[in-house]
Amino acid sequence: MTEHTSNEKTTALITGANKGIGYEIAAGLGALGWRVGVGARDDGRREAAVEKLQAAGVDAFGVPLDVTDDDSVAAAARLIEEQAGRLDVLVNNAGVTGGMPQEPTLVSPDQLRTVVETNVIGVIRVTNALLPLLRRSASPRIVNMSSSVGSLARQSAAADELTVGPISVAYSPSKTFLNAVTVQYARELHGTNVLINLACPGFVATDLNGFRGVRSPEQGAAIAIRLATLPDDGPTGGYFEDAGVIPW
Ligand SMILES: NC(=O)c1ccc[n+]([C@@H]2O[C@H](COP(=O)([O-])OP(=O)(O)OC[C@H]3O[C@@H](n4cnc5c(N)ncnc54)[C@H](OP(=O)(O)O)[C@@H]3O)[C@@H](O)[C@H]2O)c1
Repeated sequence: MTEHTSNEKTTALITGANKGIGYEIAAGLGALGWRVGVGARDDGRREAAVEKLQAAGVDAFGVPLDVTDDDSVAAAARLIEEQAGRLDVLVNNAGVTGGMPQEPTLVSPDQLRTVVETNVIGVIRVTNALLPLLRRSASPRIVNMSSSVGSLARQSAAADELTVGPISVAYSPSKTFLNAVTVQYARELHGTNVLINLACPGFVATDLNGFRGVRSPEQGAAIAIRLATLPDDGPTGGYFEDAGVIPW
């Protein structure tokens, strides 16, 4: 593998960074003076986001990336190697709900497959493609964007919809699955310098929920930025929101 020593900036890749919370994570990490790869599947939306970030003074570069596509993810890993020569932080932010309603008795297998392919398998695909680069970093961090709706403890406590979201047999369990997957990564990576954690941004006004959320994308980005900048003795395999640890 070619060694690039020219990039001395901490470098991050954020998936689904063209809008919403992912865009604000890119802006926030960029404001720290980091180099940020804007992972996005649509050329126009990606270029617009990169331009907007650059206009705000961020050292941003575009990374064509569809998390459901093996070739796209492999090409993204090569592009980061070539453009940045390093990767310190990966934020697996891209996600879909699969559309509502999602009553268990009404869901279609295709709806389930789409959501799991993006929210779970997509994260595994991207993480595994980028781990070789991440492992070369002195302090690699992986942040997986989950949601508190993936908490079985909260779902089974029959809380209000603001806390547990609508009934959703694809989206919420996809985040529970992602939580379980992240715990397995933390086990395998135990004893290495890779810290991998789950973030819940709260209920944020984005396209994902028709802008019904009550928090701003910037507020939603804060927990991911905190987990992306953990010190070497920080936690791994944890599930966090702004207020602290979320019960599984
Ligand atoms: N908003 C909330 O209240 C909330 C709460 C808890 C957790 N979250 C999580 O936070 C993350 C960001 O969501 P958001 O609210 O910011 O939603 P959003 O505005 O809809 O953004 C989702 C992002 O993911 C991208 N994406 C979807 N499928 C993709 C694929 N196959 N490959 C690459 N990118 C893909 C979208 O790209 P396109 O523009 O191309 O579609 C978009 O950039 C998600 O994981 C979501 O589950 C959100």
